[in-house]
Amino acid sequence: MPRKILVTNALPYANGDIHLGHLVGYIQGDVWVRYQRMRGNTVHYVCADDTHGTPIMLRAEKEGITPEALIARVHGEHLRDFTDFGVAFDNYHSTHSDENRAYAEDVYAKLRAAELIDTRAIEQFYDPVKEMFLPDRFIKGECPKCGAADQYGDNCEVCGAAYAPTDLKNPYSAVSGAKPVLKTSEHFFFRLSDPRAVAFLRDWTGGTNAAGGRRLQAEAANKMKEWLGDATTDENTLSDWDISRDAPYFGFEIPGAPGKYFYVWLDAPIGYLASFRNLAARRDDIAVEDFTDGHRAAAAATEMVHFIGKDILYFHALFWPAMLQFAGYRTPSQLCVNGFLTVDGSKMSKSRGTFITARSYVTQGLNPEWLRYYFATKSNGTMEDVDLNLDDMIAKVNSDLVGKYVNIASRCAGFIAKRFDGKLGASDAAATGDFEAAFRSGTIAEAYEERDYGRALREIMRLADLANQYVNDHKPWELAKLDGQDARLHVVCSTALTLFRDLTRYLKPVLPALAAKVENFLSIEQLDWQDTWQPLSAGHAINAYAHLMTRVERKQIDALLEANRESLAPATASNTKTSTKAAEHSQQRHAEKQQNSAQGAETAMTHISIDDFAKVDLRIARIVNAEHVEGADKLIRLQLDIGETENGQIKPRQVFAGIKSAYDPAALVGRLTVMVANLAPRKMKFGLSEGMVLAASDPDAKTGGLYILSPDSGAVAGMRVK
Ligand code: MSP
Ligand code: ZN
Repeated sequence: MPRKILVTNALPYANGDIHLGHLVGYIQGDVWVRYQRMRGNTVHYVCADDTHGTPIMLRAEKEGITPEALIARVHGEHLRDFTDFGVAFDNYHSTHSDENRAYAEDVYAKLRAAELIDTRAIEQFYDPVKEMFLPDRFIKGECPKCGAADQYGDNCEVCGAAYAPTDLKNPYSAVSGAKPVLKTSEHFFFRLSDPRAVAFLRDWTGGTNAAGGRRLQAEAANKMKEWLGDATTDENTLSDWDISRDAPYFGFEIPGAPGKYFYVWLDAPIGYLASFRNLAARRDDIAVEDFTDGHRAAAAATEMVHFIGKDILYFHALFWPAMLQFAGYRTPSQLCVNGFLTVDGSKMSKSRGTFITARSYVTQGLNPEWLRYYFATKSNGTMEDVDLNLDDMIAKVNSDLVGKYVNIASRCAGFIAKRFDGKLGASDAAATGDFEAAFRSGTIAEAYEERDYGRALREIMRLADLANQYVNDHKPWELAKLDGQDARLHVVCSTALTLFRDLTRYLKPVLPALAAKVENFLSIEQLDWQDTWQPLSAGHAINAYAHLMTRVERKQIDALLEANRESLAPATASNTKTSTKAAEHSQQRHAEKQQNSAQGAETAMTHISIDDFAKVDLRIARIVNAEHVEGADKLIRLQLDIGETENGQIKPRQVFAGIKSAYDPAALVGRLTVMVANLAPRKMKFGLSEGMVLAASDPDAKTGGLYILSPDSGAVAGMRVK
């Protein structure tokens, strides 16, 4: 029986560009959908823009347009980006739609009827000038822990502390600059802590999917266990979920509660259903309720699969299934969670040009299928982060796709056209048999099903090696020069093109545009999945070989980085999102914070002027001495020569640096580094510290490393750094 699957990708916020980080999950979803369809399954693939919330409202205001105008524009941009990358949704809708309002109201009414909605008064920061409540990300002030200025209301980007906005010192509104005041208002809460919800979620998160695998990846299921506890101790960290916001807000007003709106994350996932219903309205082959109605027997025979990034797991594995369950809807069959993108081992960065928009990639003339291929080689079905290593991408595309795969066709096609009137001959049964046996011993289909595309592609490349080996062994270019070898030449080229066709079949979910070119070249209606072979038949006429794929050049990548480079990068939606080192004690706050930061950073960012930067006196320093400090477990005492003298003698500065975990003092002596020379001296327990040396470290402390800076050779102590 063919499967019937509703597949969704996370709905991108309607206030930012699609970037390569987003594309990780969208490409994973699209590849899976294409694979399922090739297997003969019925798939409905939908997405939409996530349009509601404070950040979008403020962004529109800043641009001097209505939120409706903003989301209409962005809808067009997003759809074009996805289309250009071959991410082919059956419907790309909007959460600001009639279907979504109807579903949101229905879900809410049913949760109320199930006595899972509470009303509570809460106290929050309010902007008296702008006359609105402020999400955490729109409140700034001094960090309560380290005193750093201009920190957001949820966590400090300097010291990593997590706190509530009310803990900030000298808080101000990032919208108007006004000092916020505390104000009380009534909010609606979804009672996630209700024992019914807890019991349901424990069961649901541990369940299986339609293919017999896990409903949640192992790492995701473990995360859920941390939050949900288990039935034996019945301890959990769930708290009720605040689902309303006060006017002014861009969203759906809650029926019977004037001035109260559904919080954006309530109607966002409901947008999956809205997009699906909107699709069904123009199709007569889709019975929506078979996929959505939890009470219908038919719903047990359909699947609902969500592709999402790891930062929004919490919403999709707790609130969303619980909402659906207690409103009588069908619950998700499976979550496919992807990790975050890094570029060359680091977070995407505007200053390095690695915060690459989908649009710039296309306008710079790079082939979207290069990226699809590379991302697929890096996908293994887990939640691990994915690194886009630019040199590795060039190497993989050039060697696998151009060097191995395309090479098979380009070495054989010409002979068929020139010598055999464009018609194929018989195939070499031994060669196609070997190829088939190699395919059968592999696990390409299972790998696709499990979203371990890297494994699928490694196996496909092994098959490509076999096909190349066949061509190398029979050397058509030599046969072509010999008399009386025409029949042999015909067989060799025809066989190679049959193998090429089958490689294309298996690459097709990842490289649909390339596969379409090959279908046209080989004059094949449509390649579907096949586990057994019928060689292309003798006499089959093919079309002239047209160029299939060019090599990637490093200079194209450099131009792409240049096009995305911004001097003095502001905080951006996604890099602040990944750097949000939030309160691990409360995952719920964490999740909501990420939601706010993702949308908020764009509006609330700050720049410094060049004059601000010039205030920092950075100098090349030579480490003349380094030693352990008695009684200090982190510090090393450094004596630094920065060219200052007294009576003709070098007068070093003393600095206590917290680098003991990473350096042996003896190894530091003689090295050059960079120091801040005009930092106010600080009296410490061990003596006066007269500056600071610069060192790199991972803000999330994942790698734990600490690296002091060194200048290029030629720099000498005392030089200014600017
Ligand atoms: N609007 C919410 C999702 C609502 S779903 C009902 C949202 N939007 S988003 O635009 O911030 O992100 C869209 C998708 O892209 C999410 O799955 C998110 O996890 C993913 N990613 C965003 N930045 C990413 C990276 N840098 N790397 C990998 N995935 C990333 O979240
Ligand atoms: Zn701090």
